[in-house]
Amino acid sequence: MMTDSEVFKEGLAGVPAAKSRVSHVDGTDGILEYRGIRIEELAKSSSFIEVAYLLIWGKLPTQGELEEFEYEIRTHRRIKYHIRDMMKCFPETGHPMDALQTSAAALGLFYARRALDDPNYIRAAVVRLLAKIPTMVAAFHMIREGNDPIQPNDKLDYASNFLYMLTEKEPDPFAAKVFDVCLTLHAEHTMNASTFSARVTASTLTDPYAVIASAVGTLAGPLHGGANEEVLNMLEEIGSVENVRPYVEKCLANKQRIMGFGHRVYKVKDPRAIILQDLAEQLFAKMGHDEYYEIAVELEKVVEEYVGQKGIYPNVDFYSGLVYRKLDIPSDLFTPLFAIARVAGWLAHWKEQLSVNKIYRPTQIYIGDHNLSYVPMTERVVSVARNEDPNAII
Ligand code: CMC
Repeated sequence: MMTDSEVFKEGLAGVPAAKSRVSHVDGTDGILEYRGIRIEELAKSSSFIEVAYLLIWGKLPTQGELEEFEYEIRTHRRIKYHIRDMMKCFPETGHPMDALQTSAAALGLFYARRALDDPNYIRAAVVRLLAKIPTMVAAFHMIREGNDPIQPNDKLDYASNFLYMLTEKEPDPFAAKVFDVCLTLHAEHTMNASTFSARVTASTLTDPYAVIASAVGTLAGPLHGGANEEVLNMLEEIGSVENVRPYVEKCLANKQRIMGFGHRVYKVKDPRAIILQDLAEQLFAKMGHDEYYEIAVELEKVVEEYVGQKGIYPNVDFYSGLVYRKLDIPSDLFTPLFAIARVAGWLAHWKEQLSVNKIYRPTQIYIGDHNLSYVPMTERVVSVARNEDPNAII
């Protein structure tokens, strides 16, 4: 029999945490499927709302089902004025992901019934979360700029309405279409950190707003959804094509991660990065060139040269920032955009978790002390903290 230490895998790498029918990744051949359908097909033929329906209800909707779902979402986009007022108390300098996590959790205060065995409650929670999360992202952005939030426009589709709420201008249809495809590409990705977090929270049978708030908090980190914002900062820091090689050499020498590269599952270029790169090129052809694109292409080439043999290639976050920049979206909203899309996947996993629920309760390998004697306060000595920093937290 294997010991605990033999079973233990850091970061749970390769450890199945659930049986799922929601999506599938083949990291060797670069394949991603939602409910068995290839991502390339969905990006080409479906809208994000259709994809959300597929993920959450398990099948492609009929025309009537799609129209009904879209109508429900369209008519639930408004948020309570209490939530807008609450956002006015947030610091303007706060990160939009923190604002989103707080606001998503606050929704649970308004819809607290928690009837997880009632299909109407489940449907209403799905519709509210898909409908209101974009409104909350846009509202915080407007408020921090000193403006009143822009009310959703019921005439506009999901993607166009979000872009409208950021600017009060109806977006170019091509820009809105590109944004909609970006949402599809980010909608779901098997058992990543935020989805795991959503499933763990769901397994306690808490309300769906807490599930989504917990997942938003997990997505925010720079090793997960936060990487897309970091990619743009990195391209800015590199500044020119000539600086790419020295930058990569410096990062690798310092064992520093190059943002937007590498993936726990993919050992080839992420299929979503391939689609996003193509979208970025189409956008530049239509809306003008971006000087960061050459830097990005050179970076991909140099990184592949140095660490391609380790399976380090661009991930979904590498080209998404360039697309969003061309759409004039501020870089600290990139991760909230990821969240807007991923709500669909989180909700699909929430429903799946409820259908087979067993509360998550893993174990641990205790490596601390035993039977230490209790030292009275007067006899304790000041410890020298790690790195000789007296304020460091051990
Ligand atoms: N730049 C340079 N080297 C890298 C990178 C990178 N971005 N990613 C992995 N490596 C190296 C790493 O140093 C290690 O080398 P060695 O074996 O010589 O020590 C090897 O590749 C394996 O790394 P790992 O830490 O075991 O890989 P992981 O599966 O734990 O990490 C990752 C996956 C995504 C956290 C990591 O690749 C990373 O930090 N990437 C940069 C951040 C990023 O772009 N995150 C977005 C991920 S995709 C979207 C999402 O999930 O939200």
